[in-house]
Amino acid sequence: MTQDEQKRQAAAAALEALRPKLGRGVVLGIGTGSTTNCFIDALAALKGHFDGAVASSVASAERLARHGIPVLTLKESGRLSLYIDGADEADPNLALIKGGGAALTREKIVAGAAETFYCLVDESKCVEVLGTFPLPLEYIELAEAPLVRALEALGGQAVRRPGVLTDNGHPLLDVRGLAMTDPEALEKEINQWPGVVCNGLFALRRADQLFVAGASGVTVRARP
Ligand code: A5P
Repeated sequence: MTQDEQKRQAAAAALEALRPKLGRGVVLGIGTGSTTNCFIDALAALKGHFDGAVASSVASAERLARHGIPVLTLKESGRLSLYIDGADEADPNLALIKGGGAALTREKIVAGAAETFYCLVDESKCVEVLGTFPLPLEYIELAEAPLVRALEALGGQAVRRPGVLTDNGHPLLDVRGLAMTDPEALEKEINQWPGVVCNGLFALRRADQLFVAGASGVTVRARP
């Protein structure tokens, strides 16, 4: 099975899991990326069975709208029932690295507004300890040099992502070499540096259920 087929399988399994939760008054949070795109495409078959969706990126909002799914703001929606998104890495405690698609800040906002977070991955994304995938960090331009130095002091090597600004108009660093045995502590530490908009660790708001697609089908891991 190809990686794309695995992504579609994870999306289909998540759709089946959420189907009984749909109904009037239900608004979904929708992430960003190729796995989430598979989910949006599958979700289109159920439009009309829920009120709409809040998107974590312009790209996802446009895809939802193309399918005729109402796109709402967080002001309009209130608290979301469920957030569905992919990830770049997931550890056994369902802490994640996200932001490979540059949407980390809005993803963290929308995930934080949801009761439950379903994360969809193919098995290549599952790791024992986070950190092989470089950690994305969205920041205010002025802070670049001090942030690079602060990351170096933690053992990280930060490289600006070339030619990319986020939907919020900010640049990104990709950081290799950080120790992530305590992802919550690292997320908190980086969060409080001046100029950081958001880092791609999702440990404080980790996934509640991880849908992992592999060669023999989809397994669902619950948050320990
Ligand atoms: C977007 O910024 C990311 O957080 C994505 O959720 C993550 O990169 C996974 O993307 P894919 O589903 O395309 O692998």
